[in-house]
Amino acid sequence: MKKLTPLILSFLILSCGKGYNPAVVSARKEASDIGIEIMKKGGNAFDAMVAVHLALAVTYPIAGNIGGGGFVVYHTSNGESGSLDFREKAPGKASKDMYLNENGDVIENMSTLGGAAVGVPGSISGIFEIHSKLGSLPIQDLFQPSIDLAKNGFVVTKKQEDALKDKLQDFINVNGEESLFSKNFKQGDTLKNLKLSITLDKIAKNGPKAFYEGEVAKMIIDEVQESGGIMTEDDLKNYNSVWRDPVKFTYKDLEVISMSLPSSGGILLGQMLNAIEEYDIGQFDHNSVESIQLMVEAERRAYADRSFYMGDPDFAKLPVYELMDDNYVTERMESFSWDKATPSSDVSHGEIKVIEESDQTTHYSIIDAYGNSVSVTTTLNTNYGSKVFVEEGGFFLNNEMDDFSSKPGHPNSFGLIGSAANSIEANKRMLSSMTPTIVLKNKKPSLIVGTPGGSTIITSVFQIILNVYEFGMSMQEAVNAPRVHHQWVPDVVIIEEGGIDHVKDSILRSKNYYVISLPIKSDSPGMSARSSIGKVDAIFIDDDGDVSTGADPRGDDHASILK
Ligand code: DON
Repeated sequence: MKKLTPLILSFLILSCGKGYNPAVVSARKEASDIGIEIMKKGGNAFDAMVAVHLALAVTYPIAGNIGGGGFVVYHTSNGESGSLDFREKAPGKASKDMYLNENGDVIENMSTLGGAAVGVPGSISGIFEIHSKLGSLPIQDLFQPSIDLAKNGFVVTKKQEDALKDKLQDFINVNGEESLFSKNFKQGDTLKNLKLSITLDKIAKNGPKAFYEGEVAKMIIDEVQESGGIMTEDDLKNYNSVWRDPVKFTYKDLEVISMSLPSSGGILLGQMLNAIEEYDIGQFDHNSVESIQLMVEAERRAYADRSFYMGDPDFAKLPVYELMDDNYVTERMESFSWDKATPSSDVSHGEIKVIEESDQTTHYSIIDAYGNSVSVTTTLNTNYGSKVFVEEGGFFLNNEMDDFSSKPGHPNSFGLIGSAANSIEANKRMLSSMTPTIVLKNKKPSLIVGTPGGSTIITSVFQIILNVYEFGMSMQEAVNAPRVHHQWVPDVVIIEEGGIDHVKDSILRSKNYYVISLPIKSDSPGMSARSSIGKVDAIFIDDDGDVSTGADPRGDDHASILK
């Protein structure tokens, strides 16, 4: 990858529309601004990615992380695309029934809270892999802004105050009264994390080994084992991220590049877009009864396949393109009727031939002046992950183990159920819904998109694509628009506040759709309290190469753009 000197950068931006306005959209202003600063200094989108990732680990500890994992999907200015899987792995001592009691029942909270919930983290491996293959600036330059930020502190927002307060008791229970996050942070407070600053400095100077081996690794293992976990120093030492082929498919005149297994995101997105393609959804209004019916029926069938077929491709031969095949998807939609909902109880996974020879989260989107595009979704899983805080290192550890199927038919935190393909095995990666995606038009980047939201990630990305290309919305409008979600089971259509009016609600109900309007206040089986769906951070590039952004108002998200 070439390094962009400031001179080339301004030339690219100013010269007759040849370059792109560099942009970063992420969950925090500090992170988006740091990404832009890196590109101003001549860094490319991949350098910016490393710096943004670390800045989110400091300023957005609910999901930004070095103790979690995620996926990168990219497309370079040379027209190459690829993806990196830095998903967590199950520890070597993990086993299928590890969350079951002697009666075979799932032990409450064991896969979500405390050391037993923690998967082997991938983020540090991921950012170093990206940097060595595609970055251009020295790694120290990319770490430094976050080392400083952790040391000098960042200002707590109202949304952060609320989220921290919500988990305060868990922090105290897991980490004790003296832990950094066991304090009652308020809006406007400056949160300094000196230990994290020191950890980042060590990693910047000594590379990923400074995280996966030695002092920091020992701190992690001590915390995990003290709070009931089974991860060992060997698990950390043996962690590797994996370059994988992204899934690629077309929707009308668009080429879509998205994440493949062990994320279900790209495959489901392909199935759903393929399923609705022949119905020309753009002839209906956004969130009309018809467009909701089409989306929901496509989603129902795709999520049924997810629960049966998908898991870690390194552990079994699993279908990918077979599930997106035109004939297969058309056949799956044959039972769709405009008159009545297809009950989920009548929908199971489809029948395909597996071809033997083949094979609280956060998202940020980046484009640089050359058009290198990077789409990254990263997570600790639920808010602040396992809540296990590596005190001496200054960071939280994930609870990604909950993304496995603890027991067939038992819903995880997102109400998702799974099968043998996603059962727990030593060193296996748990199935994800993360869907970092890049859409190309005429071979050029057109949309960079992704979101947190567990099971709702895939349907949110699906809707953003439809909002932009079918319903003619601007990038920000597409992000703001109320979202709808269905995931096969539970057989309910969740709709954000303001998504539909009473008339449409009654029509959908008369067709046997069970509609739930947000907010949902208290936890109910398979569904947790929530007020909104996803937090999309996206970039759109029009046919003239003009860049526009969408930062989700559902969070503190922020778009920074260099004009
Ligand atoms: O990988 C997954 O699908 C989940 N661990 C993502 C979790 C998530 O999006 C939480 N954010 N709301």
